[in-house]
Order: sequence, then structure tokens, then C-alpha cells
Amino acid sequence: MTKIAIVLGTRPEIIKLSPVIRECERQDIDFELIHTGQHYSENLDQVFFDQLELPEPDYHLKVGSKSHGQQTAAMIAGIEDILVDTEPDILLVQGDTNSVLAGAIAASKLDMDLGHVEAGLRSFNREMPEETNRVLTDHTADHLFAPTAQSVQYLRSENIDENRIHQTGNTVVDAVHQHASLAEKNSSVLQRLGLEQGEYILMTAHRPGNVDDAESFQALLRGMSNLGMDLGLDVIYPIHPRAEASLDELDVDVPEQITLVEPQEYLDFLRLEAHARLIGTDSGGIQEEACILGVPCVTLREETERPETIEVGANMLVGTDPERITSGAYEMLAKATDWTNPFGSGDAAIQILDIMKDEKPVRKQAMNQQT
Ligand code: UD1
Ligand code: UDP
Repeated sequence: MTKIAIVLGTRPEIIKLSPVIRECERQDIDFELIHTGQHYSENLDQVFFDQLELPEPDYHLKVGSKSHGQQTAAMIAGIEDILVDTEPDILLVQGDTNSVLAGAIAASKLDMDLGHVEAGLRSFNREMPEETNRVLTDHTADHLFAPTAQSVQYLRSENIDENRIHQTGNTVVDAVHQHASLAEKNSSVLQRLGLEQGEYILMTAHRPGNVDDAESFQALLRGMSNLGMDLGLDVIYPIHPRAEASLDELDVDVPEQITLVEPQEYLDFLRLEAHARLIGTDSGGIQEEACILGVPCVTLREETERPETIEVGANMLVGTDPERITSGAYEMLAKATDWTNPFGSGDAAIQILDIMKDEKPVRKQAMNQQT
């Protein structure tokens, strides 16, 4: 059976790989977990291992925050050392972070097979560091686990070998299905924050394009706050440390209607999402989760790599202009929420492992044929 190494490093990777890790454990698949340490604050990292009952990483690179080049380089070197030592058959990465790119490059330099979960997403905005990470990882991968027909189509249009592409759905659906009722049962976040179901707006913003620029950050906060005031609803903003640092550095005001809270644990965040009247976000994963949970969403960006959410009527792009935010939100609130989730039925982890667990390594085979 194939031995799999899994690289992860940030909050969304821990959450979206949790169904894969659990399925490896359930099927007794030989795997090892490599944590890059890109996220390290307790509430972006360890809380998810604890709450999702994941095994502690076998290896922890503790790379931490650095310039993107230095961070990625340190991760490549660390991952390579481990792969040389432990000789897995395949390396698995998920998403579009610097940890993902580092894993892809390390595997490629060792001529090791690479699997990419959530392949084929494209924002077509090369100013986002994630777009470069996605494109390079997809063009390095041997197995591309694309969530939707649209992502398959993007990969085909870049001439990626058809045999490498597998449409599996997105593991975010597995994670939501596995935790939504647990969140209902176990999370007391609404009581703790003094919120009533359906009587608040949830927002997040952490993309550099939004929160590293004073004007954009101030505008989006104003837009979300105006919306809350118009509707008589509180706006709850679990703030990412990057955005929190920007508030001080850029001298951005938080309007009174917005309540800042710490980043939330997964079950608490899922419950906050499920009962929000509307979600405003620039997060990728949260656009997907809002769509899966049937909650209207406005995306505080000019483009999305999740166009499926817009096509099914669950999401709208509104950028950061306050008037567009409020008019888009009203439009979304007037629509029915009976769309169909486009990201699969919640068995993506099983499908991915079915493909990988009996995989005959593509690159080793090719090398053997050459010699
Ligand atoms: C990273 C990913 C982004 C993803 C996000 C998920 C890249 C290029 N970006 O962005 O795609 O959406 O994670 O949340 O890979 N910090 C802490 N504690 C931490 C980690 C970071 O305080 O545990 C602060 C540091 O000041 C750091 C800043 O946040 O400089 C940014 O961290 P970084 O990992 O570079 O990017 P994110 O914005 O978290
Ligand atoms: N999330 C969480 N607590 C929070 C904010 C987000 O558990 O306070 C979860 C959310 O449910 C989703 C993931 O984190 O699964 C999204 O991560 P993030 O927005 O940081 O990254 P992105 O998806 O944009 O890469």
C-alpha cells in the first residue's frame, strides 16, 4: 500500500485536510503529517488539532512568519529533509498557501509524486500570492483533485494531462457535514457573544489586498457597518492576526456597529456561520461554507476562484466600496436560499484516498522505464 506524507501549515489546510487524515486513520493507511508552522498562534493552529481530534504532527518545522520568499525557502528545505529520510510514495498538499507551494517544490525536486487537493481553482489575479501558488502546484502535481467541473475545465484549458485530473468534490463539504450537527449541539458561541439566531451579520477579512491597504480596509469596515446599522444587526468580526496588526499600523477605525472577537474555534465558527443573516468575507473557505450552509454571502473582492458559488446564486462580488456592499447585501437577502451546493456530496476524502492508496508512483515508474 502507498505511504502518504501530508503537508499542512495553516488554519484552512488543517480544517480541509481533517477528513482526509481521519479517513487515513479509519482505513489504516500509512501516513505521516508534516506541519510547516506557517500558522502557530494557538487560535489559528492547535485549537483545530484538539477540536478535530487530529493526531499531533509527526514533524513540525516551526517556520513561523517571515517574508514570503524566506518562509517558502525554509519550508522547502525542511520538507525535503523529511522526505529524504522517510521516503513516502506520494506527498499530499491542499489549497494555495506558501506551505502548499513549498511541498510541491520539495516533492518535485526529489521526483516524488505529488497530489494536490483543491486543484484547478483560479482567480486570474496574479497579484494574489495564492494564485501563483495554485498555478505552480497544479503544474507540478501528478494527481489533481479538482472539486468541480469548472476547476477541471480550468486545468484542461492549461493543457494539464487529462489522466492526472480527478473530479472529487471539495473536502470542505466532508468537514462541514462531519461537524455541523456537533456545532449545533456543543457550541455555546451565540450565548457567549449575546447573539440570537438570524439576528447578526458575520464578517471576516484577511486578504493582503484588503487589510494591508488603509483605504480598502476602512471602506469595507464602513460598508459592513452601514449594512448592520440599516438592518439593526450587530456585525461580528473574528479578526485574523494579520488584519488586527493592520488596524494599528494603518490607523484604521472600527465603527461601533462592528464587534471584534478573537479567531474562533471551528465548531463555534460553523455555528456563527450557520445562523448569520448574511456573511461578508474575503476568505475562500468561508465563501464555500456559506454556500454549503445555505447562508447568503457577499464577497469583499473583485474576483473569486469559487465562481460556482455565484452561479448557484449563493454569493455576489461586491469589492470594498460601502455602497456596493450594502446594495449587494440587500440583493442577496431578497433571494431564495434553496441553491444546490456545487462542491460535492461530502465523500471527497474517500474518493481522494481511493485514488492514492493503491497508486503506483507515476514518477518512479517513469524513471524505471527510462533505465
Ligand atoms: C495565509 C495564506 C492565505 C490563507 C491564510 C489563512 C499565504 C501566502 N497566505 O495568510 O492564503 O488564506 O493563511 O488564514 O500562504 N500571524 C500570526 N499568527 C500566526 C500566523 C500569522 O500572528 O499563527 C500574523 C503574522 O503577523 C504574520 C501575518 O499574520 O506576519 C500573516 O501570516 P502569513 O502566514 O504570512 O499569511 P496569512 O495572512 O495568515
Ligand atoms: N475559520 C474558523 N474560525 C474563524 C475564521 C475561520 O474556524 O474565526 C475557519 C472557517 O470555517 C474555514 C477556514 O477557517 O473553514 C477559512 O480559513 P481562512 O479564512 O483563514 O482562509 P482561506 O479559506 O481564505 O484560505
